[in-house]
Amino acid sequence: ARLAGIDTESPVPKYYQLKEIIRDMIEKEELRAGQAIPSEREFCERYGISRMTARQAIMELVNEGLLYREQGRGTFVAEKKLQQEAVRLTSFTQDMRDRGMRASSRVLEMEVEPAGPVVARMLGVDRGTRIVRLRRVRDADGEPMALETSHLLYEVARGVLDVDLSERSLYEELRKAGVRMSRAEQSYEAGLVSEAEAEHLGVPAGSPALLIERITFDQNDRPFEYVKSTYRADRYRVTTVLHP
Ligand code: GLP
Repeated sequence: ARLAGIDTESPVPKYYQLKEIIRDMIEKEELRAGQAIPSEREFCERYGISRMTARQAIMELVNEGLLYREQGRGTFVAEKKLQQEAVRLTSFTQDMRDRGMRASSRVLEMEVEPAGPVVARMLGVDRGTRIVRLRRVRDADGEPMALETSHLLYEVARGVLDVDLSERSLYEELRKAGVRMSRAEQSYEAGLVSEAEAEHLGVPAGSPALLIERITFDQNDRPFEYVKSTYRADRYRVTTVLHP
């Protein structure tokens, strides 16, 4: 149902009702991503509320990431965050395809090198074991979403060294090479976009980031991939289904 107005009889605070109204307008695409929302004054006139109330509603929606402010220009509707359901073992390419978006990558580095102590421990191999280190910016419909550094056992991944991964999926290439992925262990952590990452991700340094680490296992339950990624927290959220 259309949320028509503010109910002054309701025990629900007015600012909260206004938040719901704005949320509803975004949901129904009466307000679209990138579009300016009405000014505080317009909200006041339209709904018969105080400036304070309008301000609080807008401020909270900015804090929640649904709206963003631009100095001197106004308040706008943010792009919807991409959701990743953290259950299935999928690739970035697959995740984007499922949403009707096109994945592409900018390959920053692809090197064969000896495993350092951390990578060796994560992959359960000796230090110095040859690995392929692949660093990519991951784009969705041409917009940067994440920076990803994969460490792959050379033995398993050497075939991808000659593949142009800018338009191709690493996982699909590995599958073609006979790798069967059985499971992955993944962790999430809050963080900030570093100076070095900022330019690749197209956001200011210090922006919120979602740090994801993954270890992926093959059919023999051997880890073959250790990945660290920095996702833009303004564009990405993770959901899980919990079972009792
Ligand atoms: C996701 C995972 C990575 C994996 C990548 C493969 O982003 N977090 O661990 O390496 O997908 O992506 P693609 O097959 O699209 O190259």
